[in-house]
Amino acid sequence: MSFDIQKILRPHLRNFKAYSSARTEYTGKDAIFLDANENPFGSASGEELNRYPDPLQSQLKAKISEIKNIATEQIFIGNGSDEVIDLLYRAFCEPGVDNVIICPPTYGMYETSANLNNISIKEVYLTRDFHLQTEQVIAAIDAHTKMIFICNPNNPTGNLLKEEDIKAIVAAFDGLVVIDEAYIDFSNAISWISKLQDYPNVVVMQTLSKAWGMAGIRVGMAFASKEIIKILTAIKPPYNVSVLAQQAALKALDNEAVKLEMAEIIMSENTRLVELFGQLDYVQKIYPTHSNFILMKVKDPNHLYKYLTEHQVVVRNRNTTPLCEGCVRISVGTPDENVELVKWMQAYQ
Ligand SMILES: Cc1ncc(COP(=O)(O)O)c(C=O)c1O
Repeated sequence: MSFDIQKILRPHLRNFKAYSSARTEYTGKDAIFLDANENPFGSASGEELNRYPDPLQSQLKAKISEIKNIATEQIFIGNGSDEVIDLLYRAFCEPGVDNVIICPPTYGMYETSANLNNISIKEVYLTRDFHLQTEQVIAAIDAHTKMIFICNPNNPTGNLLKEEDIKAIVAAFDGLVVIDEAYIDFSNAISWISKLQDYPNVVVMQTLSKAWGMAGIRVGMAFASKEIIKILTAIKPPYNVSVLAQQAALKALDNEAVKLEMAEIIMSENTRLVELFGQLDYVQKIYPTHSNFILMKVKDPNHLYKYLTEHQVVVRNRNTTPLCEGCVRISVGTPDENVELVKWMQAYQ
């Protein structure tokens, strides 16, 4: 495997000039800012929001660098991981020409974003117990395959994939392997961030939306080689992470203990729910989970889904997802919410 990022970059981006603002050039704080056509008085909301956000997200990157133990130049911050996924397509996949490999059942945005960008997808399904079909994935690679998406722990199945399977794919591919670790904080897996120096073709995605509890601010992260991060940074919208999002993210990242505590409660509730669901006769199978949700096979998923909705409990019906036929996916709630959920699940006939 010989990996060269310039080979997979879309040709028209080889000499791409990123949008340049005066704010990227001047990084000092005290100045009279008359460069960006902002309102000098303040904001109509009364908060200090009249200035554009830091396009370099310097403070936030410094904090993430400290927590994740990786250089700031290897960090990209997006408007959610969903923006990272879109930018990866736009950077590396030529519409109508290139393809990517996904391993369903998996996170839906890999496909939706491919469709939006007119990139074809090759699907190599997981096995019945939701592991990678490594040889088939490798066999599906062709001259136009630019990326392989791997979600670990996987959504909607909740399980961890096998390390040796991911390693085999990374080793066999001279395009990018995107490892989406949105749920890693609920598992005991070691992040691929720690291996990036040995794998120049890996992009790791994480998010503040799950264990950190910050889904509302839309902050997703990518970790990769400096070269890959440079490309994503050049093509992103300059002010892609708002002032409010950057402030709130910094505040959250200062409270890592709170995140750990919430994740611990969620996982102990998860264990409790699995035990209780196991006692219900209409529950046919509960899949092992290393995430903040539980996938389970039930007798009549459409009926259960409708019943729970009628009682104001909203879960995800996965009945039409290949390999998840008969399944519902339930996120772990607060202990009180879970009591309510279990009450209705126990009363269900
Ligand atoms: C596997 C996976 N990746 C990414 C995301 C989206 O992350 P973000 O909120 O950062 O866009 C989700 C959301 O459900 C997800 O399940």
